Amino acid sequence: MTEHSTVTLETATAVPLPDAQTVTEVEHYTDSLFRFRVTRPASMRFRSGEFVMIGLMGDPHPETGKQKHLLRAYSIASPAWDDTLQFYSIKVDNGPLTSRLQHIKVGDQVILKPKSVGTLVHDALTPANRIWFFSTGTGIAPFASLLREPETYERFDQVILTHTCRDVADLKFGKELIAETKTDILVGEEAQQKLHYYPTTTRETSKKMGRITSLLEDGSLLVDLGVTDFNATNDRAMVCGSIGLNTDIKRILENYGLREGANSDPGDYVIEKAFVG
Ligand code: A2P
Repeated sequence: MTEHSTVTLETATAVPLPDAQTVTEVEHYTDSLFRFRVTRPASMRFRSGEFVMIGLMGDPHPETGKQKHLLRAYSIASPAWDDTLQFYSIKVDNGPLTSRLQHIKVGDQVILKPKSVGTLVHDALTPANRIWFFSTGTGIAPFASLLREPETYERFDQVILTHTCRDVADLKFGKELIAETKTDILVGEEAQQKLHYYPTTTRETSKKMGRITSLLEDGSLLVDLGVTDFNATNDRAMVCGSIGLNTDIKRILENYGLREGANSDPGDYVIEKAFVG
């Protein structure tokens, strides 16, 4: 795995930074996956599904005193109404940011640029009956926000989350998310009626194997869920995952007649381009 979209930002600012937030929770899932929570700036507003830049402070340069900060786009994996902000991350041993970020502990500080952006927002989709959240790997993160967002259930009768990973252990974050969503005080009751979870693995044996793109193309995803009328009238989709997933699913959705949407021009599906898990 590689770290995408990591940027370095050189600044002369000394710590504490105005954008520093405190880590409140860390949980490790596997050698390559973990989640963490940080405090939320009091004035920060965002729409469920958006991402922000997160990072760590670098050491001051011995001569100039300047610090290099490493920042990377991270989808916010908690809903807009939550008091704290959750993130779900890969760990890459030689990755400039996550090689260090994976060692954060409760009480540590991270940099959070509170300006949020993104295409995986309700404003970018027109109304329909069903919403599909297609994810691979850490691409599930924005859906951890949208699944706990009341608007998701107000707008759609059925909400389907697909999550494809290499191994069974990589699915744990998603399984816990589904359990928490179904008992959530705000959306739990509706989620129990409307939410369908479709996990698959591609390397390790599990109940359902295969890439979601293959399962959609060969019809088995629709058969498994009892969907006989997948089309641009009934269905909307949000996609977040590997570059391969984004490219392949775009073609499949367009073959079904779905049209890509944007904040400025709502449509039938949206793909997160800025953040790749
Ligand atoms: P595969 O094991 O067949 O490559 P990664 O761990 O590399 O980020 O991948 C996460 C998951 O995304 C894996 O299960 C991987 O399947 C799957 N994947 C990779 N490329 C695609 C693609 N083009 N379409 C659908 N799924 C993909």
